[in-house]
Amino acid sequence: MNSVFSPFVKSLLVAMLAVSATASADEHKSAPAAPKIDPAKGASLYTDGDNARGLPACVSCHGAGGNSTISVNPKLAGQHEGYLYKQLVNFTTADRNQPVMTTYAKMLTDEEKHNVAAWLVTQSQKPGAAKNKDTIELGKKIYRGGIAEKNVPACASCHGASGAGIPVQYPRLSGQHQDYTVAQLGLFKAGTRKSVEMATIAKRMSDEEMKAVADYVAGLK
Ligand code: HEC
Ligand code: HEC
Repeated sequence: MNSVFSPFVKSLLVAMLAVSATASADEHKSAPAAPKIDPAKGASLYTDGDNARGLPACVSCHGAGGNSTISVNPKLAGQHEGYLYKQLVNFTTADRNQPVMTTYAKMLTDEEKHNVAAWLVTQSQKPGAAKNKDTIELGKKIYRGGIAEKNVPACASCHGASGAGIPVQYPRLSGQHQDYTVAQLGLFKAGTRKSVEMATIAKRMSDEEMKAVADYVAGLK
């Protein structure tokens, strides 16, 4: 069978194959495919923001070391790296459209999202506390056992017995501000924040049940 390629084209193809083989061998040696994640760069972005781009410092809302002291702004310290990165991506899509964070997340490069998540996971969370004695038993019951008559599964089955979550997909809930947790359950229920698992669950819960479980998880360690 005669080759469809002239000897010239053949030698050109051989040369190209040789070049690409060398290139990929070099890649394995020096330049990894993904950019190197640098938590130190994430730390300076977190504390300083970037004036040139009009990007505010994350610390102004999320607190020193990711321990927000403002109850509507979530604590980020010790949250799973993969989850934080995913949320920063979600804010740029219809999955989690939120006036404040959508603006900032769109300003961050993919590398910056990775860097800041990699730094936050190294910070330790300052514990929170439950505040409402009257609902603590209800909150505990929902967290550990769900609400059988409404077909709500136990939160612990995904978020862990102590609320530490399971990387990557199940975020840590323990120690989080109750106001933030209640707000998120409301957003899942309304469909403004999208998650197949959480939408099903939140739609079956009353406001009282959301508040009770949010207060209970704030005190979990
Ligand atoms: C002006 C205040 C403000 C600033 C500045 C800010 N955030 Fe936020 N951030 C918020 C609020 C409010 C929420 C909760 C959004 C919601 O209700 O869904 C949030 C949520 C988040 C979440 C989701 C956490 C979770 O548990 O799902 C991440 C991650 C986050 N911010 C990272 C950052 C980073 C990184 C920066 C700096 C580049 C930053 N934020 C700057 C107010 C702010
Ligand atoms: C079937 C597994 C599953 C169960 C059971 C479950 N969750 Fe979740 N939950 C998830 C997933 C997955 C996410 C992350 C969604 C995303 O990526 O935005 C999440 C996210 C959350 C968040 C947002 C956290 C943050 O930092 O913004 C809250 C709050 C939450 N869940 C509360 C609860 C409560 C309360 C219960 C029990 C009533 C519960 N979850 C039961 C899977 C589950």
